[in-house]
Amino acid sequence: MAAGAVPTPITVTVTGAGGQIGYAALFRIASGAMFGPEQPVALRLLEIPQGVKGAEGAALELVDGAFPLLASIDIATTPEVGFDGANVALLVGSRPRTAGMERADLLAANGAIFGPQGRAINDHAADDVRVLVVGNPANTNALIAQRNAPDVPAERFTAMTRLDHNRAVGLLAEHAAARVADIAGVTIWGNHSTTQYPDLSHATIAGRPAFDVVGEEWGRGAFIERVANRGAEIIEVRGGSSVASAANAAIDHVRDWSLGTPPAAESGVAPWTSVALPSTGAYGIPEGLLASVPARAVAGAWQVVEGLELDEFSRHRIAASAAELAAERDQVAEMGLIPAE
Ligand code: NAD
Ligand code: LMR
Repeated sequence: MAAGAVPTPITVTVTGAGGQIGYAALFRIASGAMFGPEQPVALRLLEIPQGVKGAEGAALELVDGAFPLLASIDIATTPEVGFDGANVALLVGSRPRTAGMERADLLAANGAIFGPQGRAINDHAADDVRVLVVGNPANTNALIAQRNAPDVPAERFTAMTRLDHNRAVGLLAEHAAARVADIAGVTIWGNHSTTQYPDLSHATIAGRPAFDVVGEEWGRGAFIERVANRGAEIIEVRGGSSVASAANAAIDHVRDWSLGTPPAAESGVAPWTSVALPSTGAYGIPEGLLASVPARAVAGAWQVVEGLELDEFSRHRIAASAAELAAERDQVAEMGLIPAE
């Protein structure tokens, strides 16, 4: 690109753009939080007819934000139009869980959305499309979309466990009275559900093993319970599922994926984060399942952090969450939502 030339806008399609997470995410994307202060964005807001008014309202307010990086705003009501030329697809649109519901209850309600969206991404999105599924049950919805998009490389489909990762880091920092910036090596393994395994066994706080600071009993007990049930805690306290923290995590996820995981100040080594990616079999997770693993983004691609030693406790927890994902996969296969292998 010639010096001084304006980069081509990145087209970001946000489904459920008229809903709560959409509303919290759109303004930050337009402000440059996702791709940096030099990169223009074209926003595509995909909604169903019932949600269009919400998307239209958000679009009016985006104009009123006078964001210098916002190249265009379009509203679509079909996935074919909504994903046309999309470089980044944030699949948020789906029904949120309410008090008393488990994620499994959402499979039937929301699974049917992600097959048609996967097909539309396959046929209409840009060649470099990257997909982040936020709508629950996120991992299995991402599996459905991925399996319906056979021409898109599987690793371009991810599901969001960055919110769980950020929760784990935030709660650890709070408990240890430490700075978030001093925490590294936290991993969320498995499903974005209560079977997830928030793992502190490789975590450090200002360079010290986290278990030496907070104790293994807390780190393998109350901490895991708190992180894994934080979604329900938010629903109970707020009266609705998490919104701003979810939008923030989606922006963190796509920003790192696009720009790379930033290196730590002292070591220069990029710390890892947590991302649900199609498994290649690493850490014993059955191939193909969209399971959360430790990963770094390098040159626009996620790389799984390999070679971490796992003790019996960790192996058991990872296997239990992977088994839940395998059961969800079997359930959606029975429902005909993913093509037969
Ligand atoms: P919301 O009800 O406020 O908004 C959802 C929007 O999606 C609505 O405007 C609805 O019209 C739209 N929608 C429904 N079906 C659609 C379709 N087929 N195409 C396009 N749009 C569609 O809900 P919310 O609070 O924004 O939450 C959205 C989803 O994100 C829920 O499933 C929620 O459980 C999930 N979530 C995930 C995480 C995570 O960490 N992965 C965190 C928080 C929430
Ligand atoms: C969350 O983790 O906050 C969301 O996935 C909402 C939920 O249903 O738990």
